[in-house]
Amino acid sequence: MIQSMVKVGAFPHLKEMKDFDFSFQTSVNQQQILDFLTLRFIEKNENIVFLGPSGVGKTHLATSIGITAAKKRTSTYFIKCHDLIQNLKRARLENRLEARLKHYTKYKLLIMDEIGCLPIDAEDAKLFFQLIDMRYEKRSTILTTNVNFKSWDEIFQEPKLANAILDRILHHATVVTIVGESYRLKNHLAKENE
Ligand SMILES: Nc1ncnc2c1ncn2[C@@H]1O[C@H](COP(=O)(O)OP(=O)(O)O)[C@@H](O)[C@H]1O
Ligand SMILES: [Mg+2]
Repeated sequence: MIQSMVKVGAFPHLKEMKDFDFSFQTSVNQQQILDFLTLRFIEKNENIVFLGPSGVGKTHLATSIGITAAKKRTSTYFIKCHDLIQNLKRARLENRLEARLKHYTKYKLLIMDEIGCLPIDAEDAKLFFQLIDMRYEKRSTILTTNVNFKSWDEIFQEPKLANAILDRILHHATVVTIVGESYRLKNHLAKENE
């Protein structure tokens, strides 16, 4: 049962919090992250946003929380923002957008990874807004992004829509801002400094 809940979550890997080196990533507050594992934020329908540059552990942390939730039988699903939007677009073309939106709304925890990596046109932003609006104050969402909130206008290209999306996401959210070097590059950077 536990394994199947984790499988349904579609996580990109099975890295957990114990695999995260907090001594390398000193800009995150370990206690705050461990508090998320109590899943109280899900009971309160609150969101978490991991904001920071590439390679600092945003997806790792989001996935760790998702796996914990799935193991506790909380319906959880991980999806890249780009794939989510493609799926909504396809559903609209096939006249089943409403059902698709409902499907994504039913997860108690939805992880939307990499918002802002690819630009989103105004039509697609409307689909994204609809989902955010349906989940607002009813469900928890974890988002990861490498784009500062003030630049979300550029992601969504339509400032009013960007504002409406951000407004709903941030109203009940904890923002975890991560800084520092990419963990992916750490060995290479260490060699250069030798
Ligand atoms: N502090 C850390 N401790 C252990 N592994 C880490 C840490 N930060 C990042 N990683 C690993 O480095 C890689 C990049 O992290 P990832 O979470 O994908 O970064 P981001 O989503 O911020 O681009 C992943 O393999 C991840 O598991
Ligand atoms: Mg990532």
